[in-house]
Amino acid sequence: METKVLEPTPEGLRIAGEIIRGGGLVAFPTETVYGLGANALSAEAVARIFEAKGRPRFDPVIVHVAAPEEAEALWSEVPPLARALMERFWPGPLTIVLPKRDVIPDIVTAGLPTVAIRMPAHEAALGLIRAAERPIAAPSANRFGKTSPTHHEHVLEELGGRIEAVLAWGPTPVGIESTVISLVEDPPRVLRPGGTPLELLREVVGELRADPPQVRGGPAPSPGTMRRHYMPRTPLFLLEPGLPEDGWEELPRDRCGYLGFTAAKRGFRFGEVLSERGDLREAAARFFASLRRLDSLGLSAIVAEPVPEEGLGVAIMDRLKRASRGVARLNAHSVWIKRL
Ligand code: TXA
Ligand code: MG
Repeated sequence: METKVLEPTPEGLRIAGEIIRGGGLVAFPTETVYGLGANALSAEAVARIFEAKGRPRFDPVIVHVAAPEEAEALWSEVPPLARALMERFWPGPLTIVLPKRDVIPDIVTAGLPTVAIRMPAHEAALGLIRAAERPIAAPSANRFGKTSPTHHEHVLEELGGRIEAVLAWGPTPVGIESTVISLVEDPPRVLRPGGTPLELLREVVGELRADPPQVRGGPAPSPGTMRRHYMPRTPLFLLEPGLPEDGWEELPRDRCGYLGFTAAKRGFRFGEVLSERGDLREAAARFFASLRRLDSLGLSAIVAEPVPEEGLGVAIMDRLKRASRGVARLNAHSVWIKRL
């Protein structure tokens, strides 16, 4: 199959909408990352998402709508708190989980009785949903277990030839996936930190649980919270202060890449800086593309510097912790790693 690269013009959106209506797959930009979209009301269309991504099993996917009323038509219960959250944060990077109606096929929710819905703040995404005239189910448009795509070129690298089309918009502004909040628990729980900071959510929700749900057998409430989820090919280690100790493994700096928050480090083969001015929003926007570049270089390891765990830094650190295989310390010329 040849993947069409469509411009997000009215004509491009019309063609993309037709593909969705016909049961095909279209990757599209949102403010967070690119999504791999299919008609959310068709089980067969959604099944193709899992095939194209090479997911080993079904995970629940997010349904994207172009207006709050469209979400209300897909949930069977809409508490006042959901309305308050939609009012404050939609369109935007907040996904809300509530009980689903029967129109949503089970494959969308991996058999869960709930469905996760969001209204993206991106004109191409909204244009596509309107052109398709139906809600669009979409996980991030990457192959299973890979980093999320923040540019249409990333989508083409991994899914080119496997999907009907991609809407080419260039980089996505937020760069990290949406925050997922479940309102079926009391108090509400954040299942995945993301583009809407917890501090802002608390202003509306009040009491909010943000500790990862404990999984004891059975399916995870939110598989995106799986520990090893954002796994680059190159082993990644989180930098910690201190000097190496017995039992640590030494690597020369010139075989390693460095993912810095505000500054590079000398001696590394390759370095990426997320935000020289220490702006977490800029860091989030650059995060996945930087990780992807470092991962493409055939390095022995990537050393990542932690970012402050506040605002969007919570979401960045969540991705870094889940991508990491251990910790790293530095001395003058080397990287020392400990696998965990
Ligand atoms: O920003 C985003 O959220 C992007 C763009 C494309 O919208 N999408 C995205 O999708 O990141 P995905 O499939 O990579 O992650 C969806 C997350 C997972 O953590 C999944 O477990 C959770 O949402 N989720 C989906 N449906 C759920 C449900 N019914 N209950 C609990 N968690 C759910
Ligand atoms: Mg994903």
